[in-house]
Amino acid sequence: MAPANLLGISDLHVGHPENRKIVENLRPTADDDWLLVAGDVGELTEDIEWALSTLRDHSRTPTAVTKEAALEQAYEKGVVCTDEFLLHPDPCPSREAWCDARVRESERRLAACDPDLPTVLVNHYPLVRHPTRILYHPEFAQWCGTARTADWHRRFRARSVVYGHLRIPRTTWHDGVCFEEVSVGYPREWRRPGHPRNVSRRVLPETRTP
Ligand SMILES: [Fe+2]
Repeated sequence: MAPANLLGISDLHVGHPENRKIVENLRPTADDDWLLVAGDVGELTEDIEWALSTLRDHSRTPTAVTKEAALEQAYEKGVVCTDEFLLHPDPCPSREAWCDARVRESERRLAACDPDLPTVLVNHYPLVRHPTRILYHPEFAQWCGTARTADWHRRFRARSVVYGHLRIPRTTWHDGVCFEEVSVGYPREWRRPGHPRNVSRRVLPETRTP
């Protein structure tokens, strides 16, 4: 049997029919594959539910996790991301307060992990600023996460970091840790010549070295 892989994908935007086909055609490469979905699945709740249900139906299912629990976990992890101009910070009074609450909660959960074990960190936004430096408009970086996560890959023993949002799929290394941008993006983006179009992207076991 083929060895299990940890795969990552993000920015599925399944409101686009072409992207819906990508989701419909995704299949595990081994029985024990795991797929990380790092946000921007769709703009409508029904689209998000369809995508997560479809991916789940095509996957090996841990018996302890129901479809409802899987969706709820995804919501908690920020998978229900949409264009930030449409995001509302409720119940927090501002976007800054919402960000602060999310960072504190994630820090609390990561600090509670077994300190002897490595982690794979999954976030819609890049945890470090470096990957935003090649943006056509570098000032867009302020909508690409927070500087408060810049040392999390070291603090929380990351073996790999998975993110999306930038829609520039590539691998970078920071302090010896592999960062994988796993986005699909809009059809106009993945149709560009030179786009890797390799969805989903393998996170573990690593195939690259720094
Ligand atoms: Fe995004």
